[in-house]
Amino acid sequence: MRLDRFLSNLPCFNRQQVRLLLVERRVRVDGIAVADPKHEVREFSRVEVDGQVLQAGRPARYFMLHKPAGCVSATLDPQHPTVLDLIDEPDKGDLHIAGRLDYNTTGLMLITNDGQWSRRLTQPKTKLPKVYYVETEQPIEQAYVAKFHEGFYFAFEDLTTQPAELVVLGSHSARLSIVEGRYHQVKRMFGFYDNKVVGLHRERMGPLVLDPELLPGQYRALRPDEIASI
Ligand code: URA
Repeated sequence: MRLDRFLSNLPCFNRQQVRLLLVERRVRVDGIAVADPKHEVREFSRVEVDGQVLQAGRPARYFMLHKPAGCVSATLDPQHPTVLDLIDEPDKGDLHIAGRLDYNTTGLMLITNDGQWSRRLTQPKTKLPKVYYVETEQPIEQAYVAKFHEGFYFAFEDLTTQPAELVVLGSHSARLSIVEGRYHQVKRMFGFYDNKVVGLHRERMGPLVLDPELLPGQYRALRPDEIASI
C-alpha cells in the first residue's frame, strides 16, 4: 500500500496532516525518513511518525530446502510427511511454498511468508526459468527439442505451453528449462510421447540455485543477495 494511504487510513491523521508529515520528513520507514507519498508500505515495513511506532513490521522469512522424495508440497497432509515437517522454525503456519513439486520430485523448494516475493518467482509473466534434470523410461529423441520449443497444447487449461529449452544429456536424461509451473507440467510434456518421467529434480528457479551443501531434507535461510535477486 502507498505510504500516504497507509497513514490516512489510521484514525489519527487526515489527508492534509499526512501531506504535512511527509513534507516535514517526520515519517520513517525501516529507520529511514521518507517524503515520497507513493513509497510502498508492506506488512514487513516498520513505520514511525515522530519516533512513535505505528506498525512494528513482521520479519520477512525466506528459506531454500532440498526437497527429498516421498514428501508432499503442502503445509498440512493427513497421511504423508510434508515439506514443512522438515522446517524447524517458529510460526510455521505463516509460511508457504513458492512453486510446488510432486511427491517424488526432489530438489530446490523455496519457502517464505512473503506473498509478493513468491508471486514474482512463480508467475508465468515474469518468465523466470525453472530448470529440471529429468530421467525417462523411454529414450529421449533429438526431435523432442523442437516440439518442447514449439509448445504442447494442454486441453484442461486450454493453452499452449511457452517455449521450453530441452537439452538432451543422454539416451534417457535431459535438462529442461520452463518458464511456467503448470500442474504436472514436465510429466505432461513427456507424456505427449508416452514417455514416463521416472526421475525429476529441480536444480534452479531463476537466479536461485539449489545449494550443493544441502542434503535431501536439509534447508537454510536465503542470503540477502539471494532474496534481492527475485
Ligand atoms: N513438473 C512436474 O511434472 N512435476 C513436478 O514436480 C514439477 C514440474
